[in-house]
Amino acid sequence: MRILGIETSCDETAASVVDAGNSGFNVRAHVISSQIPQHAKYGGVVPEVAAREHVKNIIPTLSYALKKAEAKPAQIGLIAVTKGPGLMTSLAVGVQTAAALSYAWDTPLIGVNHMEGHILSNWVRNPRIRFPVLNLVVSGGHTELVLMTGHGKYKLLGKTRDDAAGEAFDKVAKILHLPYPGGPSIQRAAEQGNPASVAFPRPMLRESNYEFSFAGLKTSVLYLVQKRKKLSGKDRADIAASFQQAVVDVLVGKTLRAARQYRVKSVLLAGGVAANRPLRKTLKHSLNKELPKVIFSTPPFEFCTDNATMIAVAGYFNAKRKKFSRWQTLDADPNWELV
Ligand code: KG4
Ligand code: ZN
Repeated sequence: MRILGIETSCDETAASVVDAGNSGFNVRAHVISSQIPQHAKYGGVVPEVAAREHVKNIIPTLSYALKKAEAKPAQIGLIAVTKGPGLMTSLAVGVQTAAALSYAWDTPLIGVNHMEGHILSNWVRNPRIRFPVLNLVVSGGHTELVLMTGHGKYKLLGKTRDDAAGEAFDKVAKILHLPYPGGPSIQRAAEQGNPASVAFPRPMLRESNYEFSFAGLKTSVLYLVQKRKKLSGKDRADIAASFQQAVVDVLVGKTLRAARQYRVKSVLLAGGVAANRPLRKTLKHSLNKELPKVIFSTPPFEFCTDNATMIAVAGYFNAKRKKFSRWQTLDADPNWELV
């Protein structure tokens, strides 16, 4: 089945063409039109700006993806589009475009949950994944541990009570006057710093639940910066490295505990923060050491942050379960929680 994936939930306009079948996935086109320069001057995503950019970019992005994939509309067997969660005005552009194409091409349509897309991005490269699976989903809006006993079968074990991990990276980058987007900036700055230089708290690490909280950690960084008044490059690198280490310790510690308690066969890391190298490395090494039989997977970098390939893959698994949408009634759902 040839699938056209469309993603516009936040600040990336993305389109992918993916061939999917029992033997796996073949990504024929993976196109992302990024809005980073438009939002960088504001230090974060401005919804109104994002919506206007999506409107401008959606058709060129789609037509470029189809051209790159050498795919004709008649060959597209399914249109998969992000329905939510995300910014209403951003989601609406993708959803309305997908509904219009479904009508014009008479092609089946599926509205996909963005977080399910992140989770299923782990299937793109067809690794061996066995159920039950524990997903650590870490993005700009979400930080969750999700147990998955089969396709479409999710159970939420815990989530953040306040800031998501990516949100904390973005806010701490602002405090340190590092450029937007904050995650990659913190990671870059941290490479020159000592992660043991500041003893930041490890929020909720010792609590026997699977919830997270990053707002207090962010405030600790703020107080430290306010106390120091003037920061050298070295100070900034040390704070970035210590903050990053605290986030990684909490995420990895809780994931390992959940993996043990639920006796999972695989652990998957997904979402924009999964692009963080120290997190990928630490989780992989800790699992190898403590639970060597557990399979670990995280997508290649280009499938971690928002993209449409993951939406096409999620479309495929939903189509197998006959979870189709209708162009007449498909609507964006900005608060759609997976579980
Ligand atoms: O999944 P995503 O692209 O969008 C949402 O669904 O939110 O995630 C974006 C988040 C941002 O907060 C960004 O700062 C963070 O992922 N991020 C990173 C890295 N790359 C992106 N965080 C830490 N390290 C990175 N290398
Ligand atoms: Zn995302």
